[in-house]
Amino acid sequence: MLSYRHSYHAGNHADVVKHLTQVAILDYLLKKDKPLCYHDTHAGAGLYSLQSEHAQKTAEYLEGITKLWHYQPKSAVLQKYLGLIKQLNPDDELNFYPGSPKIAALMLRQQDYLQATELHPTDFPLLKSQFVKRRYTRIENTDAYAGFKAMLPPLVKRGLVLIDPPYELKTEYQDLVAGLQEAYKRWPQATYAIWYPVIERSAIEAFITAIVNTGIKNQLRIEFNLHPDTEGHGMTGSGMLVINPPYTLADDLTQALSEVQQELGLANSHYQISQLVGE
Ligand SMILES: C[S@@+](CC[C@H](N)C(=O)[O-])C[C@H]1O[C@@H](n2cnc3c(N)ncnc32)[C@H](O)[C@@H]1O
Repeated sequence: MLSYRHSYHAGNHADVVKHLTQVAILDYLLKKDKPLCYHDTHAGAGLYSLQSEHAQKTAEYLEGITKLWHYQPKSAVLQKYLGLIKQLNPDDELNFYPGSPKIAALMLRQQDYLQATELHPTDFPLLKSQFVKRRYTRIENTDAYAGFKAMLPPLVKRGLVLIDPPYELKTEYQDLVAGLQEAYKRWPQATYAIWYPVIERSAIEAFITAIVNTGIKNQLRIEFNLHPDTEGHGMTGSGMLVINPPYTLADDLTQALSEVQQELGLANSHYQISQLVGE
């Protein structure tokens, strides 16, 4: 049933937008000394070779991270994000791309908690093996929303929950809305960052409306469209819905995405950042 493998998509334009948002949020949370918890619901394998058969087959990274690899950014968030990828590719050749739990692990301090759930029988051991030496780390081979019940709230008050399902099944949209409500009840102070693909405009607007209708306050929408909408003919863009965003997030990502837009370089691309629900 689990056919999705992130190794086919690592470093594509959607990963760039998602991971920039993740870096901007963690960077803000890390300004305070008190420990935080990063919880990743659909963690993937953690690290991807861009030379693998999977990555080479789709070559999606060529339209994403490759276009930024030699760019000298002005935006602080874009600098930080590219700096993390450079740490994994010290020879200046782009061979590896980090997944969201790896990005978090590179940013977190010793006192911070890292939690993750991943269901895939091949990706889970790959993920787990990367963090065996890290303290305050819990990686479970379990369903994302069962993980909320078992692992939230964490021992510390502040943190980020990244929710990044593959959306292979239509039910995953409803499951996410129910899971989010459960998590928010348990840990209302956390920041939640929910990734979504733009494939069919009407379906994605209905999904966003369902999240707005939960009544959860303080929601920011960030969306980057590389191509104009098509009705259901592949992913043309992607977005992040962020609950309890840092107050700096909208400005940070406006700067970063304007540079990304320029470097990814397609005439019809556009982005939007909008407050959906106030505080
Ligand atoms: C989009 S990928 C995650 C990518 C990762 N967050 C990143 O940014 O590097 C989605 C992952 O969710 C896993 N998955 C699918 N259904 C799941 C579920 N119900 N609970 C936990 N993981 C699941 C898949 O095996 C896949 O590795």
